[in-house]
Amino acid sequence: MKVFSGIQPTGEPHIGNYSGGFRQYAATQEQGEAYFCIVDLHAITVGHDPKELYDGTLDIGAMLFATGLDPERSTVFVQSHVTAHAEAAWLLGSVTSFGELRRMTQFKEKADQQEFVSAALFGYPTLMAGDILLYQTDIVPIGDDQRQHLELTRDVAERFNQRFGETFRIPDGVYPEAGARVMDLQEPTKKMSKSFGTEAGKVLLMDDADTIRRKVKRAVADSGREVRHDLDEKPGISNLIELMTVATGETIQEVEARFDGHGYGDFKEAVGEALVALLTPIQERYRELRSDPAELGRLLAIGADKAREASAPTLEAMYERMGFAQPS
Ligand code: TYM
Repeated sequence: MKVFSGIQPTGEPHIGNYSGGFRQYAATQEQGEAYFCIVDLHAITVGHDPKELYDGTLDIGAMLFATGLDPERSTVFVQSHVTAHAEAAWLLGSVTSFGELRRMTQFKEKADQQEFVSAALFGYPTLMAGDILLYQTDIVPIGDDQRQHLELTRDVAERFNQRFGETFRIPDGVYPEAGARVMDLQEPTKKMSKSFGTEAGKVLLMDDADTIRRKVKRAVADSGREVRHDLDEKPGISNLIELMTVATGETIQEVEARFDGHGYGDFKEAVGEALVALLTPIQERYRELRSDPAELGRLLAIGADKAREASAPTLEAMYERMGFAQPS
C-alpha cells in the first residue's frame, strides 16, 4: 500500500491542518510505504515572501516529525528537491482541460482574494496530480477541502492511461470521520483556513495554553444549551464536538454522552483543556527539532534521495509513452 500526502509550508499550521493532515499522516504511515511532501512549489502560486518560504519549509519539516512521522518509516521530503514533480506537472497539463481547472473552487476562492492571479495558481491542481501519481499512490490522507483536487487527479490519471497506455494507479482519498472540515471558531460556517478569517478564529498548533483556552472560550456558540452534534442547527457546537474528538480520540456520540446535561461553559472549558493536553507535547518536540536545522536538513536530504528514486520510473514511463525521444 502506497500513501502520499502534501502540505504547504506557508502560514502557520492550525488545528484544521492537524485534523485533516498531520494526525492522518502519522496514522497512515503504519499502513505501508508512505511519502509526505512539503509542497514549496505550490506555495509560490500566490504572492509569497522568500524568507517566509525558506523558514516555513523547515517549520513544517519539524512539525511533521513532531506530530509523529518516523523518519525511519516515512519518506519526508521537500517538493522542489525532486525535480520530477515540476516535470510531471508540465506533462499532465496536456491532459487537463482549461474547463476543469476553471471549475476548481479553491482556484476561484483564492483568485478572488488576489489582485494578481498567477498562471501558476491556475495550474496548481496539475502539480498536485503529479505529486500523487508519480508514486503510484493508493491512498491520499487529506481534509475535505482537497476532495475536488483528488477527483481531478483521478480523472487526469484515467485520461492519461486511456490515451497513452496504463501508467498510473488510480488513488483514493482518505478523510477523517470527524474533523475532515474544521470550521472557523468565529464563523463556524466557514472552514478554518490559513488564508481567510481572523486570528481569533483559528487555534494555531504553536499557540500557548492560555491563548488556546481563550480562543475556545470565545468561540461562537449557538442558541440552546445542549451539547449536540447538528451541523445545520448548531454549527459552532458541532465544530467544538469534532475538535474534542480530534483531541481525545472519542467518537461524536461519546462526547455528546459525556456532556449530556452540561452547559456550553463547561464544555468549552473541557475542549480548551483537551486541546492544550494534545498540543503541549507536540510543541515541546517541535521546539527541539526546530532548534537543530542541520539535523532537519539531513533528514530531508535522505527523504529527497528516496523520493527521487521512487518517482523516477513513473516519470520515465510518462515521457516514453507520450513519445518523447529518449537518448539511447
Ligand atoms: P494545505 O497545505 O492547505 O493543508 C494541509 C492539509 O490540511 C488539511 N486542512 C484541513 N483539514 C480539516 N479542516 C480544515 N479546516 C483544514 N484546512 C486544511 C488539508 O485538506 C490538507 O490535507 N493542495 C494541498 C497540498 C498538496 C497535496 C498534494 C495534498 C499538494 N500536493 C498531494 C495531498 C496530495 C494543500 O494546499 O494543503
